[in-house]
This record gives sequence, C-alpha cells and structure tokens, in this order.
Amino acid sequence: MKTYKIALLDGDGIGPELMVEAVKVMKLVAERNNVNFELTHTPFGASAWFSHGVSFPDQTKAVCDAADAILKGPIGLSHEESKKIPVDQQPERGALLPLRRRYNTYANFRPVYLPKGLAHFSPLKAEVIGEGIDIMMIRELVGGLYFGKKETGINAQGKRYVAEVLEYDEDQIRAILKVAFETAQKRKKVLHNIHKSNVLKSSVLWNEIVEEEKKNYPDVKVEHILVDAAATYLCLKPTMFDVMVMENMFGDILSDQGGGILGSLGLMPSACIGPDKAYYEPSHGSAPDIAGKNIANPYSMIGSVAMMLEFSFGMVAESRNLWQAMQSVFAKGYSTPDLSKPGAGVKMISTSEFGDLVVSELKAMPKV
Ligand code: IPM
Ligand code: MG
Repeated sequence: MKTYKIALLDGDGIGPELMVEAVKVMKLVAERNNVNFELTHTPFGASAWFSHGVSFPDQTKAVCDAADAILKGPIGLSHEESKKIPVDQQPERGALLPLRRRYNTYANFRPVYLPKGLAHFSPLKAEVIGEGIDIMMIRELVGGLYFGKKETGINAQGKRYVAEVLEYDEDQIRAILKVAFETAQKRKKVLHNIHKSNVLKSSVLWNEIVEEEKKNYPDVKVEHILVDAAATYLCLKPTMFDVMVMENMFGDILSDQGGGILGSLGLMPSACIGPDKAYYEPSHGSAPDIAGKNIANPYSMIGSVAMMLEFSFGMVAESRNLWQAMQSVFAKGYSTPDLSKPGAGVKMISTSEFGDLVVSELKAMPKV
C-alpha cells in the first residue's frame, strides 16, 4: 500500500476546526483508494508562538521537510491580539512567508469557481454569472513586494520613511508564466495577463517575457489587461476570464475579490507549488471572531485537500469526486452561514455537518 506523509499545520482561529473536517475527508479518501495517509499535526502560526515561542518551530520545519505534502490552516490573530507578538514573529512574517520561501512555492493556484446552480451565493446578478464562474487565478507567490528589500528610517528632512522594493528577475517571471501557459493549454487556451505596465517597470519586464514565452505556446491566446481594469471586469463580466496570471501583490488582492464575487472567501481553496514541495491552504484568514463556534465554512480547506490529491498525489479522478461531493452538498440546499441568511429553502449547517455531508456524498460515489 502506498504511503503519503502529510504535515498538518492547523494554524490559528478557525484553522483547527477546519482541519478536523479535512482529516475526516482524508481518512475516507485513503480507505477508498487503498492508500495510507500518515498525518502529523505540527504547530505553526500564532498558536506556535504562544506554545513554543516561535511561530515556525524547528520541529515543524523537520516534519514539513519530511512530508510528501503540507496542508495548512489559516493563520493570524485579531489586530489587537497580534500586538502581543513581536513584529517579526507575527504569523504572516514569522511563519507563512518563511514557509513559502523555504519551499520556493512560486506557483499559487486559486480557483474561483461557482456553478450556475449556486449563483444565489454570489452578490452578482444571475445574468452576470450566466453559465457559471470558472476562473483559475495563478499568482506568483515568492517574489515582488512581499520578498523585496525593505528599509525604514529617518530621511534628510527628519521624517520617518519606508521603502519596499518590487523585485523580480526574468527567471522568476518566466517560471510562473510557463505554469500559466501550460494551465491555459489544458483549459480554454486563453490567458489573461494582468499587469500595470503603464506605471510599473516590473510590469514592462513581465510583459516582455510574456511576448517571448507566448511563442512557445502558439495555441494559447494572450489577452493583456491592466490590473485595475481586471478588478472591474471581475465584477461586470467574470465569465470572460478563464486563466489569469499575475504577480504576487496583484494576486493577493484579485484573489480576495474572487472570493467576493463567489459570495465568500470560504469558497477559496488554493495550492502553492514549488519545485520539490507543495503546500495547500485556504486563501482566507483565520477569522478569530468566529473561532470555536462551529460555523466556519470548511469548503476552502476540503477544496485544498482536493487540490492536494490532484497536484501532489496524481489522484485526479478522486479529486474530481471530492469537488463534486462538495457541490452536491450545496446543490441539495444546504448552506453554511457565510453564504446565505436563514430563510425559506435554506438548510443551514455547521462546520462539522458540512464535513459529514461531504463524507456521505463521497461514500455514495463509485470508487475510482
Ligand atoms: C493570502 C494571505 C496572505 C498573503 C497573508 C496572510 C500574508 O492574504 O494568502 O492571500 O498576503 O499572501
Ligand atoms: Mg490574501
């Protein structure tokens, strides 16, 4: 029997309760597919700082190094609580960015998906959603402003100042573009290149590399669109997009907008792929205000498991089944509180009920 080692980084806030649901599902997947998932929980984020004095402990690094894949819950605290942790140990700077850097997870896949039948979850009108939203946002994840040089100090006028550099070299740009072109080839063969070349030199270089690379993918049609215009069209005409590629900061912002047009960030799983290691995480935060209430939507966490099955373990058919199982739960009229208000026709379910329903839907599907 094949064994896959999976590091489980529960994270903060709603992270642990979402992880419980992901584990439920993984146990069933293992059973159905005759594989062994060796699951190891290990501390990460603000919770790790409070228990171990560091937000990305060495023991967690060791578990992740040895793992075949990493599943990570959201991290972070409320603005006030964060202040209890030294700035450099705060979970975003002290754990998440170092995790991305450690495994060079440059390719971040963020699906923005809502079938026609679930259009009522979206704040957009049904006619805007048409036959459904199905976008793959591809975000560069280890470059740009997030990882560029930073400087703070007092300038010649005696004023506090800050400078952060948006840095990319051509290899980094080419690497993410290749991933995007290849993804477009597997989908509708249209790639929206998101940029801001009317202002940023980084986008000028980015676009030069797009022109060079597109020669290698003659079957893919490239559409260039400025990032601000892309934000507008995501609301006005989301169905015009299929694969979108963008630098790190643009991707952070547009992918949250992606969650917005679906109706909730709770519908946003993601895969973060590096050359040798990948990790999977919901795109949203740790929602400390609703932690422990069993009301958070575990879709993005279970969806991240589905992405792990596909990208890390090549279990493509079972991954599809899992997506289908989640869609079926919604299609039967169930909803988590982030997606609907209580009312006629809405069967409101908790975090754990969603997990249980996904398990029973998946059980009912033929094994692959
Ligand atoms: C995301 C998150 C992170 C980011 C935060 C938590 C640092 O918003 O994954 O989109 O900005 O990349
Ligand atoms: Mg974000």
